[in-house]
Amino acid sequence: MAVHDSPITFSPINKHFSIFPERIPLIDQNSCASIWDLLVDGSRHWKLRDSGFGFYTYGTPSYMDAVESLTYYIYESAQVNCFLRPIFNILCPELVRLLSRQCGVSEQYILPLPFASFPGFHIFAPTFSPDHNMKSSFHHDLQHELILPLIHNVLRFEASNQIELLSFTLPIKLPGSGAGLCFCEESVGVHRLAYAVGEIVLHGGQNSHKIDDGYRCNAGDVRATLQGHAIKTVSGKLFYYW
Ligand SMILES: [Fe+2]
Repeated sequence: MAVHDSPITFSPINKHFSIFPERIPLIDQNSCASIWDLLVDGSRHWKLRDSGFGFYTYGTPSYMDAVESLTYYIYESAQVNCFLRPIFNILCPELVRLLSRQCGVSEQYILPLPFASFPGFHIFAPTFSPDHNMKSSFHHDLQHELILPLIHNVLRFEASNQIELLSFTLPIKLPGSGAGLCFCEESVGVHRLAYAVGEIVLHGGQNSHKIDDGYRCNAGDVRATLQGHAIKTVSGKLFYYW
């Protein structure tokens, strides 16, 4: 793999993507149910991240697995992508169509970021009622900074190092009490955006946001969401990853 060692400077911009998260219907409930069946089928490959909340990941999130070692992230991604591929194949045509429309990118230029994880899943499946609500914290999505060599690998064909950033969440299964996203709007305050099964939420990731921890997750509840990010290059290519 050609990985460039020279330091590079990105200037993330957010021209095309709304500061405000948007919720857009993507797939129907039957497709979500089929995807959930495939997730359960692959549950031996879920990675337990927090036993208290029954929090698993399926896939290789860069914000967790690339923190200490990019090599580890690349290795894990290669392993787990094999299992994610059948699930992602169900989603891919609709996702590509939507990203093409929303981001102004020709469908043929929407591609997986080489050596990275496909978008993967957050799964909350507590086996007992947690004695306190999950506490999430406001953040900006900065995981692209953890995989700069992979991004530089595709930018070496570009005239510019500028990129635009995109984050997305697609709820596949939700607890009875619901789930959602909180995000801040300067001088207005915090907004709450409720999730709906099959409706994708797109945002630039650069406004302060967090999992809405105002919903209680009880024993037997399941909250499964597809999570992904993408960069758009100046020449109009979009590379997705997790
Ligand atoms: Fe985030």
